[in-house]
This record gives sequence, structure tokens and C-alpha cells, in this order.
Amino acid sequence: MSDRAVKFLEETQPATPCLVVDLDVVERKYLGLTQNLPLSEVFYAVKANPAPEILGRLAKLGASFDTASAGEIRSVLAHGVPGERISFGNTIKKASDIAWAHAQGVRLYAFDSEAELEKIAAHAPGAQVFCRILVEAEGALWPLNRKFGCVPDMAAALLAKAATLGLEPHGISFHVGSQQLDTNQWDRPISHAKAIFDKLAASGIELKMVDLGGGFPASYTTGTVGIEAYGQSIMEAMTKHFGNRLPRIIVEPGRYMVGDAGVLEAEVVLISQKSYSAEDRHWVYLDIGRFGGLAETEGEAIRYRIEPSRQIDGNSRPVVLAGPTCDSADILYDKAKYEMPVNLKIGDRVRIFSTGAYTTTYSAVNFNGFEPLKAYYI
Ligand SMILES: Cc1ncc(COP(=O)(O)O)c(C=O)c1O
Repeated sequence: MSDRAVKFLEETQPATPCLVVDLDVVERKYLGLTQNLPLSEVFYAVKANPAPEILGRLAKLGASFDTASAGEIRSVLAHGVPGERISFGNTIKKASDIAWAHAQGVRLYAFDSEAELEKIAAHAPGAQVFCRILVEAEGALWPLNRKFGCVPDMAAALLAKAATLGLEPHGISFHVGSQQLDTNQWDRPISHAKAIFDKLAASGIELKMVDLGGGFPASYTTGTVGIEAYGQSIMEAMTKHFGNRLPRIIVEPGRYMVGDAGVLEAEVVLISQKSYSAEDRHWVYLDIGRFGGLAETEGEAIRYRIEPSRQIDGNSRPVVLAGPTCDSADILYDKAKYEMPVNLKIGDRVRIFSTGAYTTTYSAVNFNGFEPLKAYYI
């Protein structure tokens, strides 16, 4: 949690909803990761929070960047980051965007299908390519396993084909799922990566890189172990499978880098019940919901810590927390057992912690006429 962000909220009392992101926390997270995975290159996953203030701070620290679109590449280039420090990591890209990125000096491209590989060969000739493999990772609160990647056999065949298309087959990537709570989940995909390295080596192709993706956690209501445990477990898996011939290692953290840097403040718009029964839970409606930036409450997957911003004495009671829009999907927490003080009042403010990742970007639309989430970077 960021004390500076809380202090800023207390001193400036900005209109709600708003997010405050402490750039010093982002810096500390970056340094924590580089200390605990010293042999890896950190490519910040821009999608987690593309604010120029964050990109600028990380660019100065020497980070590289994982990008999902031409727009994200443009934002990174604006900070003077050279193309070699940018990976075009989305496996679904327009041909015109590949050509544009290539012209900007971006060398590294992800793919997970033959058609995408052919697009890259045509529009980024000679580029370094890496193939994303499917993983059956468990333990992630925000899984990413079905949409991206191909089976290891296909990855090996496509990387061999990449060489025939004039591309440089560079390596393998995977993502064990976001907010991954089990540090052992990297082991199996690393073993698959090594098997692909060996298979291609037998036909004279030397792969050079393993991209371990993201998945490193932020601190929500479910406890996590520290980044040290992730570093240790991952390096154990790398040496178990690759021995002392370690390849180039890339990580693409998003949530871990910026999640805990953010504190969001929201206002209680309504507190009500659906019946006169004393058993009926109270509904607490905030001025932010699923469409205002808290999209990851979908399925109640990501459970933020939420507290009133003032000290409220007395007992707490179970509540349903919901957003302000006229959409019944806009319920934040129903099954999760959230409690709020009995004496919470309409007009009170609440703080939602660890909200620096995957919030502002999800609120870029004006659904129901609510403004996109305002953010301050301090
Ligand atoms: C390709 C890629 N890399 C990295 C990330 C960042 O993951 P995380 O936020 O879990 O660190 C994502 C998240 O969607 C991703 O798709």
C-alpha cells in the first residue's frame, strides 16, 4: 500500500472516483524484481497501466516494454525508448501495425499461429520471433490460458518454419495467468520450452530466449508470498531444465509493477435494502463500478481491499457492493463476504487499495455518461 497516495487523498480531497498512483512504489517494485530475478530482462506490460508518468519513470530506470498495439508502441517511443527495448507481444496484430512497428525499429514479435508468422515474415522481414505456448496453469485469479498460445509440437514446427521464411526464430513465451498465486506454475511450461529448444537444436536451429510472461501478484485480499519466492522458484525451474546453459530470460510483469502503487477513492452514493427484513443484506452503491475501472471484479475474481476513508466506530455488517450504472452486471461483490460499518453513511468515501493495474484503461469509455476514471500520478 502507498502511504503517499493516501496522504495525497487526505490533503487534496479530489472529486471521486479517482485513482492516485505512487510512482515511487512502481520504482520499488521494478527494483525488487530486478534484484530477485537478476538474470532476466524486465519488459513492463504496458497494458496494465500505460500512463506516460509510469512509462517515463520505467524508461529512465532502463526497463524494456511489452506492448499490445501500435498505440502502446507509440507511447513507449515517445519516451525515447529505442525499438530494441520494445516487444510486440500480442499474438493478434494487423499487418499494417507490424509494418509500422518494423519501420520504428521494433525487432521482437510474438506469434502463436502460422498465419500470424506469415504476416510477420511479410511485413517485418528478418525480425526475431517467439512463439507463445499454451499452458494449463492453475492457481491464477485472472487466467489467460485459452485464447493465446499453441501446443508445444506446433510451436516447434512453426519456429522451424520461421527460419525458412527469413525470420530469426528467437524463443518461446508463455503466461501462467495473471495474479498467479502458485510459484510452482512456471515449472511445467519451462520444461516444455526446454523440450522445444532441444527439438530445434537437433535440426540445427538454436533458440535463444525464454519469455516467462507476467503473473507476479499485487496485494489484494488473498495473501501472496513475496517476490523473493517467485524469483527463487522460477530460477530453480530454469536451472533444473536448462542446467548451466541458461538462455536469455525475459519477464513481462504488469500487475505486480503497478497494482500496489494505486489507491482509488470512491463515494458512497446509496445504501439500501430490497425488503424490510432484518436479514436482508444492505446494498452499498459506489460512484465507481465494473464499467468505471473495476472490470476485474468480473466473477469476483480480483478482490480489492476496501475501507472507509474515515474512522467509523461500531459494528460492521455484510453488504453487497455495487457500481452506479443501470446495468445489473455492475455488481462488484455479492458472494465474496465484504463487510462495511453499520454507521457508514451516504456521502462517505471509501478507499480501494492496490488499484494501480488494469483500472484506468478499462474505464476509457463513457458508459452511462460517467466520465473515465481520473488519475493522479505522484
Ligand atoms: C502477453 C502478456 N504479457 C504480460 C502480461 C502481464 O501480465 P500480469 O499483469 O499478470 O503481470 C499480459 C497480461 O495480460 C500479457 O497478455
